[in-house]
Amino acid sequence: MSHPDDNPVFDMVLFGGTGDLVMRKLLPALFQAHVSGQLHEGGRFWAVGRRDLGRAGYLQKVEAEARPHVNGKAGEAAWQAFCERIDYLQLDAEDPAAFQQLAETLAAQNERGVAIFYLSTAPRYFIPICRNLAAAGLNGAHSRVVLEKPLGTDLASSNTINEAVAECFAEDQVYRIDHYLGKEAVQNLLALRFANVLFEPLWQRQWIDSVQITIAESLGVEGRGEFYEGTGALRDMVQNHLLQLLCMVAMEPPASLDADAVRNEKLKVLKSLKPLSEADVAQQVVYGQYREGAIRGQAVPAYRDEANVAPDSRTETFVAIKAEINNWRWAGVPFFLRTGKRMQEKLAEIVVQFRDVPLQLFPGSAAPNRLVIRLQPDEDIRLFMQAKQPGNAMAVTSTVLSLDVCNIDNGRHADAYQRLLLDVIHGKLALFMRRDELVAAWEWVTPIMDYHARHNIEPKPYMAGSWGPAAASALLSKNQSAWHEEL
Ligand code: BG6
Repeated sequence: MSHPDDNPVFDMVLFGGTGDLVMRKLLPALFQAHVSGQLHEGGRFWAVGRRDLGRAGYLQKVEAEARPHVNGKAGEAAWQAFCERIDYLQLDAEDPAAFQQLAETLAAQNERGVAIFYLSTAPRYFIPICRNLAAAGLNGAHSRVVLEKPLGTDLASSNTINEAVAECFAEDQVYRIDHYLGKEAVQNLLALRFANVLFEPLWQRQWIDSVQITIAESLGVEGRGEFYEGTGALRDMVQNHLLQLLCMVAMEPPASLDADAVRNEKLKVLKSLKPLSEADVAQQVVYGQYREGAIRGQAVPAYRDEANVAPDSRTETFVAIKAEINNWRWAGVPFFLRTGKRMQEKLAEIVVQFRDVPLQLFPGSAAPNRLVIRLQPDEDIRLFMQAKQPGNAMAVTSTVLSLDVCNIDNGRHADAYQRLLLDVIHGKLALFMRRDELVAAWEWVTPIMDYHARHNIEPKPYMAGSWGPAAASALLSKNQSAWHEEL
């Protein structure tokens, strides 16, 4: 098979190779890329872990833990061919000598292609791994390092990591993953905005009343109680995924789709976010925590009863925020951000609420236009419009113009990790966060974290299976608005 020059041979080293992310997401995504013929046939994966599993032992683990997550349609032969690409290395991330050995192993395998180091470990290993890679000469021009979130727990710790990484790798070698940016629907948002002339003139304060961005999950903390206790929804979802979605909605048209053209525009949005004072946080932010309840008829425990969670925990499993962007396009338009665990449905949605017509001519239940961009579980775009109600009366009613993006090209959508991993192999940085974006995002959430820590605020309880605490609804009603599902 011949490969274009831009499909390089690669070695991908997966630190944290026995972990959950590698098993549930990365290997299945790489398998999908493999069966789709998107990987150079010389491409290899080196899973790295502390345990002495050996290649055979590791492959057994892959069979048990990764294979259940792969698309079942591909046959046994494809799976075996994929496994041929995988090897396992026992390595202590804090032992420089082990990295010398890694360098020798990689050099022996492959001198032409790119070397990718995917850090899917606890963040405390990021610095020793990067330093050891550099000391072993594994930070050359063809090396790339991929950093999984969480990148620190606050601005200071994130700066420490980024500083140390910058001593070892140039910024254009660093791929900070936010898997939301790899979702097809999120990319489609750019196409909707910038490949159509229709919305752009209306995409501003004069015509838009408010924007809602929701990422709701029906899952709880899924055995990750220990991690979640030290994290909470603000750090886990708002600082990264929700703010990135906000950037996609609010950014100016970039001059091109080049990585820096896009990232410069996103940075401008993050830097234009109105900083929240103490009083603003008290008024504009709602923290919640789920109590016991039921999801689709199944009883589920309260957050405080989950394993490895303190019985008096004040960690937030829900956040709603009224954010504002201080620039000419958006001043005065509230952006309502919301995320939570154990909510009624799994749903990610952006709702752009337009203003009402200046003069209502028609009797009936006329409602302002609303554009609803559903990102998951299924992807669609719906524009709520007014049309005449059939009959003699000149009354209007709400109707929906629907764009079924799922079925374009038979709906062959790449998984977010598949797309992002291929982008790393191909050296495309546009869908990865640049360091300054991360700093700006941490800067904006810092007053929210500080306020809750300083005042030891008890998150508002909400029932598992609901849409969050009542205070989140009140946040919108204060602005003469309501969450989309409440309309
Ligand atoms: C991750 C969070 O970044 O995103 C998880 O750490 C969360 O807590 C997940 O469940 C949600 O991603 P998705 O793609 O399932 O919406």
